[in-house]
Amino acid sequence: MLRLAVLASGGGSNLQSIIDAASAGSLGPLYPVLVVVDRPCGAVDRARTAGIPVEVLDRRKWGRRLTAALETVLDEYRIDLAALAGWLSILDGALTRRWSGRMVNIHPALLPKHGGPGMYGRRVHQAVLDAGDAESGCTVHFVSEGVDEGEILDAVSVPVRDDDTAESLAARVLVQEHRLYPRVLAELALTIDPRTDPSSVD
Ligand code: GRF
Repeated sequence: MLRLAVLASGGGSNLQSIIDAASAGSLGPLYPVLVVVDRPCGAVDRARTAGIPVEVLDRRKWGRRLTAALETVLDEYRIDLAALAGWLSILDGALTRRWSGRMVNIHPALLPKHGGPGMYGRRVHQAVLDAGDAESGCTVHFVSEGVDEGEILDAVSVPVRDDDTAESLAARVLVQEHRLYPRVLAELALTIDPRTDPSSVD
């Protein structure tokens, strides 16, 4: 068994797709055992409904100490793999280095295009439309110090339509996110070993 934490800041539909995949037995050895949020958000209700413990690390309370608090929580719950699913707080380099290869993110565009600091939510899809791209999509990648710059694990493309708005494109991309993320997590789980001592990753 591998212990999965999902980190969220929003509605939590990607979290839900991971919960549903786990319930269906399609996450392999991976079990969501913790949800961490950095603000009150819809993901909390989804986690509680599924009976998964929630840790609220409110970014207004923790400020620059949020990363350290997160690391403590991940260690307390003996987390093997962490999945960012709409998590908006930027994590500092000490944590991303220590969690290298054990922390992944999903981005709602085809990286390396339309990523980086400030590129989240509607802005990503508007940037795709403004650039006149023929396609967008979603990308799952390892988390590294540079925002949205870690090694790409997999991506799915989605055509951009002439009449797309940022909202319609976001909705079409999100459908693919819900398919891509659980699949990549299940595949990744087959390649990593459980952490026997979470504090000794580096
Ligand atoms: C998704 O588009 C995800 O790719 C992005 O933020 C959105 C989160 O949606 N990082 P949800 O909270 O999973 O519904």
